Amino acid sequence: MKKLKQFIWLVVMALAVVFASCTKEGPQGPPGSDGTNGTDGINGVDGTAGCITCHTNDSELAIKSAQFAHSTHFIGGQEHVGYGGRSSCSMCHSHNGFLTAVTDGTNSGGEHPEAASMSCYTCHQIHTSYTRDDYGLHYTDAVDFYLNENDNGVFAGLEVDATNQYSDPDGLSNTCIKCHQPRHRGTSQPDPSVEGSIEISAGSAAHWGPHYGAQGAIFGGVGGYIGTDNPTAPSGTKGHHSCKSCHMSFNALTGNYGEYVGGHSFKMTDADGLPVFTACDECHTDRGATIDLPGKMAANKILLDALHADLMAAGIADADGHLVGGTWTNQQLAAYWNFALVKNDHSYGIHNEEYTQSLINAARTYLGTN
Ligand code: HEC
Ligand code: HEC
Ligand code: HEC
Ligand code: HEC
Ligand code: HEC
Ligand code: HEC
Repeated sequence: MKKLKQFIWLVVMALAVVFASCTKEGPQGPPGSDGTNGTDGINGVDGTAGCITCHTNDSELAIKSAQFAHSTHFIGGQEHVGYGGRSSCSMCHSHNGFLTAVTDGTNSGGEHPEAASMSCYTCHQIHTSYTRDDYGLHYTDAVDFYLNENDNGVFAGLEVDATNQYSDPDGLSNTCIKCHQPRHRGTSQPDPSVEGSIEISAGSAAHWGPHYGAQGAIFGGVGGYIGTDNPTAPSGTKGHHSCKSCHMSFNALTGNYGEYVGGHSFKMTDADGLPVFTACDECHTDRGATIDLPGKMAANKILLDALHADLMAAGIADADGHLVGGTWTNQQLAAYWNFALVKNDHSYGIHNEEYTQSLINAARTYLGTN
């Protein structure tokens, strides 16, 4: 019994030595200086202070998102996001391609086999600084046109810069123009200042011409042909408005009665496809009816239809407005190009009436029908 007690005592002592050596300490140091006093009654900065400048319960995000869900950007964007896999399409048809082109300073979006369609993150810098400043846009620089990359060098130095518009001093429209600019077509770009002709095969004719996004070109007065002496020189003044001031302006329909016009729907037309000008009346009707907007569109449509008829009479275009395959002179192709640019713009002079009418006139002069 005594031996067992002695043994336990020894074990306890041994353990005490082991623990003591583990926690060996030097002599205690002098006390530290006092900490800074707290500021009574005032909270420190909350970790979510940046977030709640946007993620509030005032439904701002819900409203913009609902408008955006009715835009072609969202609906068509989802349908065509597969083009994100092709470097010749991805800049304008995918989120990933747009950001690649903007970061690299090119008009090529690269290949993104897994691409996202356009979202809030495409135009805005969402979740970059995590402050409200993230509503700033990714792209506001002048747009160096894709058409400059045409392989036979007909267009060069085309640039559109939408800064300093009265409704858009910072050039937010440059974001829109970066995508809403025509795409070039290989080596078949006509040059109406020279003689000669170009053969367009029946297979490629139906897709020949400036690709859909003609608006930025018309708006900036570039991308078409006028005359035969330096025919690609910029022409016509830019309008006073910005893309935003017309396509994002609010009016009685924005989100009401299930119709979305303006705001983040970017639409100018109602469910029947008719332009809605109620937001414009404040200046253009109520303050003196300075510009008859529907009348302007109707008049320019008549001019464009006349050009279409001329092109059909010469066998250059079909009834749908597509080019017919064949060997056409530079002037004939330039006339068709101008027609397609104005047609694909879809605004019938509202984007830039002076340039629109100059293009139609020039085309009819090339055809000898003026
Ligand atoms: C500039 C405004 C803004 C700020 C600041 C902001 N967000 Fe967002 N946030 C958005 C927008 C816009 C969306 C996308 C909404 C949509 O897609 O419909 C979003 C989406 C989200 C989502 C959904 C998932 C996703 O990524 O799409 C989460 C989660 C989120 N934010 C958290 C935060 C947090 C946490 C912070 C702060 C650390 C923050 N956000 C700051 C605007 C902002
Ligand atoms: C420079 C930008 C740009 C590039 C590059 C581009 N597109 Fe587009 N595309 C647009 C714009 C802008 C529109 C819509 C214009 C409009 O509605 O007036 C559009 C519309 C379309 C449409 C019509 C959608 C519809 O149903 O109305 C198709 C199809 C299309 N693009 C296919 C392509 C393909 C395929 C490529 C690549 C070979 C391509 N695009 C490259 C800008 C571009
Ligand atoms: C096609 C480009 C584009 C897309 C996509 C887009 N926006 Fe915008 N947004 C704009 C432009 C342009 C403005 C106007 C900015 C200005 O006037 O300073 C704007 C303004 C805003 C504002 C007001 C910002 C402020 O300074 O008060 C909010 C909020 C906003 N957008 C939210 C969203 C949300 C949410 C989404 C996604 C559902 C979205 N946006 C998608 C282009 C876009
Ligand atoms: C990332 C490229 C991109 C940007 C940036 C962009 N768009 Fe678009 N936009 C498109 C494409 C592509 C389409 C056609 C979508 C589809 O059908 O797949 C389109 C469609 C549209 C349409 C509807 C055309 C139709 O036929 O229904 C309008 C209007 C429009 N954009 C205006 C704007 C405005 C205004 C801005 C700037 C605030 C802008 N876009 C910025 C690529 C862009
Ligand atoms: C805040 C006032 C105001 C509003 C609202 C307004 N405009 Fe204008 N608009 C102007 C001014 C100012 C001019 C320049 C007039 C001039 O040069 O004689 C102008 C010019 C125009 C022009 C001639 C070309 C150009 O861009 O300069 C067109 C087309 C036009 N507006 C269309 C519209 C449309 C469409 C809307 C509605 C979506 C609209 N405006 C809303 C003030 C306004
Ligand atoms: C002065 C007002 C005004 C300005 C500025 C303006 N637009 Fe338009 N836009 C219109 C009107 C009106 C239409 C014809 C109605 C329609 O089809 O949406 C139109 C048509 C369009 C279309 C074809 C829509 C469709 O459904 O086929 C696109 C895309 C477009 N504009 C983009 C732009 C871009 C990008 C800018 C800036 C470079 C711009 N617009 C500047 C008024 C304007």
